[in-house]
Amino acid sequence: MDKIAVFSGNAHPELAKDICKYLKVKLSDIFVGRFSEGEIRVKINENVRGKDVFVIQPTCPLVNDNLMELLIMIDALKRASAYRITAVIPYFGYARQDRKDQPRVPITAKLVANLLTTAGANRILTMDLHAGQIQGFFDIPLDHLFAVGVLIDYFLKLNLKDLVVISPDVGGIKMARAYAKRLSATLAILDKRRISPEKAEVMHILGEVEGKNVIVVDDLIATGGSLIEAVQTLKKAGAKSIRAAITHGVLSGEAIGLIDKCEDLEELLITDSIPLSNHKKHLRLKVISVAELLGEAIKRIYNEESVSSLFD
Ligand code: R5P
Repeated sequence: MDKIAVFSGNAHPELAKDICKYLKVKLSDIFVGRFSEGEIRVKINENVRGKDVFVIQPTCPLVNDNLMELLIMIDALKRASAYRITAVIPYFGYARQDRKDQPRVPITAKLVANLLTTAGANRILTMDLHAGQIQGFFDIPLDHLFAVGVLIDYFLKLNLKDLVVISPDVGGIKMARAYAKRLSATLAILDKRRISPEKAEVMHILGEVEGKNVIVVDDLIATGGSLIEAVQTLKKAGAKSIRAAITHGVLSGEAIGLIDKCEDLEELLITDSIPLSNHKKHLRLKVISVAELLGEAIKRIYNEESVSSLFD
């Protein structure tokens, strides 16, 4: 892999190192710091001419800093004559702003796509986008990975009977169906209404959960409001045990405290698409790494091999 170069910004160097370990390459040398007034300062410390470059940077909190770092790194790599630049964005921030759901609001996910392309990204590699249609916001190739293959192994080992996979809203049905199929489980859907950015309310359960072991699956947990509401509703409806598998642990505000207090939730599986090292010791939280999945996808992109066959 003499033409590959893997760089990381400050968002998640731990994941970048794990990916490099899988690829058996060293993390390339870049300085990403700040000028005294706060502007981002980038300097690539090695030759990247003709290199197939991968920049690993989830746009997780601090979202704007991480996004800006990514854009500036891409600009620097383009001007340094990299052959191809792939932005590896394990968690794509702003993805929930993907449509005009009220008058006079932006479509920020589309703006971010435009910014990445304008900066000079040639490809995007990402995982469990909030909405698959965001792929269409890009006019460059985008590979979309799914964490289901990594998270499912844990549940398969538990060998739970009478299993129901729960989609916490209608938007998540496709993802829930993928879990249900692999776990040979049935599917139930929560009819969720969002009252405010922090509060969600479940109106109905579509499907049978009484006396069942249930797994709530979702693309992300931010405030934790959706998950806690789902757990309370499922408990009231007579679920025997409640677990959750959520790809991206944004865990903003009081989320960690809420999860700690939520005794009806047996465990929450989360990937390391976002740094979680501060939370690893939390009760109920299990972090599963996606470094190998991302590393394998990078290897296949570099070798011009199929990425979709990763999902077979
Ligand atoms: C919503 O459509 C998403 O899939 C998540 O359920 C939601 O964004 C989670 O946010 P929070 O944890 O703040 O309820």
